[in-house]
Order: sequence, then C-alpha cells, then structure tokens
Amino acid sequence: MLKDKRILLIIGGGIAAYKTLELIRRLRERGAAVTPVMTGAAAEFVTPMSVSALAGEAVHQALFDLGAEAEMGHIQLSRSADLVVVVPATADLLAKMAHGLANDLASTLLLATDTPVIVAPAMNVRMWEHPATQRNLETLRADGIAFIGPNEGDMACGEYGPGRMSEPMEILAAIEARFSSGPLAGRHAIVTSGPTHEPIDPVRYIANRSSGAQGSAIAAALRDAGASVTFVTGPAAIAPPTGVKVINVETAREMEAAVSRALPADIGVFAAAVADWRVDTAQPQKLKKVKGEIPSLSFVENPDILASVSARGGNRPELVVGFAAETENVVENATQKRARKGCDWIVANDVSPDTGIMGGTDNSVVLISDAAPEYWPRMRKEEVAKRLVERIAKRFGGEKA
Ligand code: C5P
Repeated sequence: MLKDKRILLIIGGGIAAYKTLELIRRLRERGAAVTPVMTGAAAEFVTPMSVSALAGEAVHQALFDLGAEAEMGHIQLSRSADLVVVVPATADLLAKMAHGLANDLASTLLLATDTPVIVAPAMNVRMWEHPATQRNLETLRADGIAFIGPNEGDMACGEYGPGRMSEPMEILAAIEARFSSGPLAGRHAIVTSGPTHEPIDPVRYIANRSSGAQGSAIAAALRDAGASVTFVTGPAAIAPPTGVKVINVETAREMEAAVSRALPADIGVFAAAVADWRVDTAQPQKLKKVKGEIPSLSFVENPDILASVSARGGNRPELVVGFAAETENVVENATQKRARKGCDWIVANDVSPDTGIMGGTDNSVVLISDAAPEYWPRMRKEEVAKRLVERIAKRFGGEKA
C-alpha cells in the first residue's frame, strides 16, 4: 500500500518527537520513502543523525540553505511528496499553520504545499484545551487538514488528559488508510467489541463471556476494505487487530464516552457485549468479608450505546449495525430489537450454550435489515466478518468521492 509513496515527514519540537523514529522505521519497512524535515526545536529532542539514518535521507532543517536550495528548492520540496505528515504537531506549529506564518522551513513547506496534510498533535493538556488552540484546530479542520489523535492519557509532563500523541502504529494506520484503494477507502468506521467490566469494588467486577473475536474480525475486515477504523474494546481475550486505532475501555460508560469522542463516522458496528446493568454503589475499598453477612448489590441500567448512537441527529453514522445475542426466537426478537434500538441492521445469532458460539470460533447469523431476514450458514467468525463487510461495501457503493 505504501510502496513507492513519498512521505514528507515534518518533525515538530516536543518530547513526543521520539516516537517519530519508530514511525520512520515502520514506514520504510512498508516501502515508503521518507523525506525528513525538522524544526529547530525538534533537534533538541531527537538528533538529525538518528532521523536521517532511519530515513536513509538527509534531514532538511534550514530555510535559507543555499546548498539545499540548489538541489531542491523549498517549494518543490513541499510538493514532491504524496502526503505531508506532521509529527508531533506542537501548539506552536498548529498556530503557525492556522495563521499562515512561514518563518522557518517547516511552516514554509506547510504553507507552500498542495499535498494533503495529516497532523498528529501532541502537547500539554492545558495547551490543547486553551481556546486559542481550539480556535486554530477549527480553522485547520475547515482548511481540510486531517487529524490523528491526540489520545487521552499520562503525559511526559506528569499531567493526564487529551494531548498525548497517537502511537506510531495508529499514525501508520491513518497514513495507510489514505493510500488504500479498497471499497471503503476514505470511510471512518467505529467498532465496539469485547465484554465490559462493571466494578463491584476495586478488585471484583461483573462481566460476561464475550471473547471479542467477532468484533476484532469485523475491525480487521473493515481495515482490509480500506476504512480507517476506531476500535473501542472492553477487556477482551483476543488481541486487537493491527492497523486500527485502538481505544481500551473497561465499563459501559467509558465505552459510550469513547464512541462519542470517535464520532463522526460513516459506519458504526456495535459488536460489544455491553453489560446491561452496573452496580449502583461500586465501593472505593474492597468489600470486607464479615462472617454471617452476605452483601447485597443493587444495580442501575447502563447507557445503551447502540440506541443512543442510532438516535443521534447531526452525527449519526450513515450505517449503524447492532448485534443481537439471543437464546430463543432469534429472528423475532432481533427484529423487535432493530426497531427498538433504531439501528439499520442487526446481526442476530443464537448463543444457546449448545451452539458453542459465545467464546467459540464459529458463528451462525441471520442478518436483519428492512428486507427479508437473510440466513447465513454456520461459518468461522472471520468469514462472517468478511461477508458483513462485503455487504457494507455494497451498501456504500464503492469509494468515497
Ligand atoms: O444487550 P442487547 O441484546 O440489547 O445488545 C444488542 C446490541 O446493543 C449489541 O449490538 C450491543 O453491542 C448493543 N448494546 C449497546 N449498549 C448496551 C447494550 C447493548 O451498545 N448498553
């Protein structure tokens, strides 16, 4: 997919710059050529020597470099690539881009380029949330700049929140999605998968037997069809597929928040076995065993992610697919579920214990849409995923314009 593609990789000056070394390795491994550009500050975090050794090309650093200008002028440099990727995109670099400043080589290239640009922001959470940065992001989005991340998590500065740069494999997935020519190229899909864990206290929880196998297989099949995939997964037994953006969650409420943040999307596939209830009064300390006393748990209802996404106004995905795990009257129950949840399709399956489907390798499903129910023969979960994604691709009628 990346063979013979040229990436102009602009490295900004932030601690996350160290992750670009890994990104360069992975890009080169996949056959891409990397033209590295570093800002002055970037060279404080990673050395031009490491960057150029991994890229296999000289690093461009100075705007006024007569030698480099004679070989390739900066205008030509800005246009010679198939894609411009800015990692990490610092608050300063984003501000320069939003305002059209061009006082160093990186910002000049970004102003001069006519090539699509993807940026991976990284900064302190307060800087990210500052109204000035948020204004700049809005401007850049309107200018057609694509964003990957930032993620939420621990930051090198010791704080926690949004502002952590996406991991190299996530950035790689976004770059690959750009060049994908599959039928779902240019589409964004959100897939939920796995069980959720609902805490009773810090060490005990309520869960279910979902392995995450069907959700993982669907995310992989969507990726293979060219979609960029956000994979929101509970604590699953199966490893998430590579080449997708993975968001790990534990509870239903965390899953709902992650899905909300991942919108907008063209496609939503809700394969997670979300716990319907959570313990009302999860304890901050471990419940003590007291002789003769049995604790009683009271439950409250969890948010229904599928139903709430299906009911969204502005950014409802064009196609919302839910699952129905039933143990009896599969088609009848699933048909009612489709109406109740307001989704477009339901993939219904019989999970009675004797089927071995829950946690197993096979699945046997009925696809419920507004047409007649479609009975698919029993097959491996990967095959179910492929067939479902073929149906999705057909529904979208090929590549996005
Ligand atoms: O649990 P239920 O049979 O209603 O699940 C049907 C569908 O709804 C599944 O696709 C599941 O992922 C989704 N669901 C959800 N949020 C819940 C419960 C179920 O998204 N709280």
